[in-house]
Amino acid sequence: MSDAALATPPSTKKDPSRQMSAAAAATADKIVSPDIYAQPEALDAAFARLRAEDPVAWCEPENFRPFWAVTKHADIMEISRQNKLFTNGEREMLSYAEAEERVYAQTGGPHLLKTLVQLDDPMHYKLRHLTQDWFMPHKVKTREEAIRKIAKEFVDRMEDMGGECDFQQDIALYYPLRVIMQILGVPEADEPMMLKLTQEIFGAQDPDLMRNKELAEGGDSEKGLASIQETLAQFFMYFTNITADRRAHPKDDVSTVIANGEVDGEPIGQLEAMSYYIIVAAAGHDTTSASTGGGVLGMLRHPEQLKKMMDDPAGMSRMAVDEAIRWTTPVKHFMRTAQDDYELRGQKILKGESLLLCYPSGNRDEEVFDDPFDFRVDRSPNKLISFGHGGHMCLGMHLARLEMQAIYEELFSRLKSIELAGDPTFIRANFVGGPKSVPVRYKF
Ligand code: HEM
Repeated sequence: MSDAALATPPSTKKDPSRQMSAAAAATADKIVSPDIYAQPEALDAAFARLRAEDPVAWCEPENFRPFWAVTKHADIMEISRQNKLFTNGEREMLSYAEAEERVYAQTGGPHLLKTLVQLDDPMHYKLRHLTQDWFMPHKVKTREEAIRKIAKEFVDRMEDMGGECDFQQDIALYYPLRVIMQILGVPEADEPMMLKLTQEIFGAQDPDLMRNKELAEGGDSEKGLASIQETLAQFFMYFTNITADRRAHPKDDVSTVIANGEVDGEPIGQLEAMSYYIIVAAAGHDTTSASTGGGVLGMLRHPEQLKKMMDDPAGMSRMAVDEAIRWTTPVKHFMRTAQDDYELRGQKILKGESLLLCYPSGNRDEEVFDDPFDFRVDRSPNKLISFGHGGHMCLGMHLARLEMQAIYEELFSRLKSIELAGDPTFIRANFVGGPKSVPVRYKF
């Protein structure tokens, strides 16, 4: 991250030399609004227009600093792999301009935390390296038996519910939570609290998930910031105790690695450690639960695909999981800031301007995917961009895939039938989301 960027609060001034295209003018306010993420068809339509008419679109939405919306798969890859030229440190995600100003006023910089997604190399690399091995396929494989045991417990729970449940709320929400908390070494009794805190951070714009419900519509940045800080304070308290415990009594878990982590021969700082626990706890389950429920919904809406899955769960599960993660695209965006002038698809991006990487759009790019709006359990190849790309590419992707494979194989090898029992609903959040409710009727 450049020091100059840290010293100056973000400017909300519009650039008079820049004009929004007709497509950008019609969609800029929509793609930043949490509302549209609760209406997947409307979101798909907005992105389809941008891809067709203005794939690298200058956007000046109300209440946000301007950015370039990057909506083509190839362009998202091109930006994501150049981590020196396009950095995370200044602005890694969308936030109201007023809220950004408040964070600057309070901290002198753009962030309350120092998580991996907010850092650039060399610090990003050094911190990521601490736990990277834990999330590589060979290590994840050693957890397979434990993960399959948890998957079985959740499918047993569904069977015990007697033929009707809300697959998202009753099953998909808690299963990945149990897996990541086991990996972190958080006791099962503390899971409900962890779920609440991580949802308050990630689903922060959905009135059902917010700490202070009155904030949902108002966008009161002062109260919003105070609310996030209350959540962070609770996280800090909890993980400060975990750090002390794991320093005194090391265990075979990721918390032990973080608590005892060193960079350049020195223990990592308190803020870095707290941020690390939080990113693993938060990124590790909402994303996976959204994809798990989103994939089931995809199959229910495409019954011929459901049949293929039920006929051969073990054979289909690997491809079905990737299709679920493509179709749902639980992480809606990350952002980068240009460190130098750059030309992308004919547009002249200037040093200091930011880019919104629109993953749901990349995953519907007609140039990359045949029939991108269809859900196909056997889609192959599947060049999903849901995990990002380059140096920040999702650390937990092998874990997420294994978890989802385990529960799909368990579920679809035991189910005799399953159908939708009502209308699904979706989370209202522009950062991480997916289905909020998937009511189902089924027979084992
Ligand atoms: C980063 C998506 C599951 C931990 C990311 C990024 C995306 C993403 C898009 C940013 C990539 C970029 O900037 O290029 C997903 C999806 C998941 C998932 C779609 C599930 C289907 C998980 C799980 C973990 C996890 C299970 C558990 C540890 C992380 C971490 C980062 C990250 C720590 C930051 C990496 C860095 O900045 O170096 N994820 N994720 N994710 N993810 Fe995931």
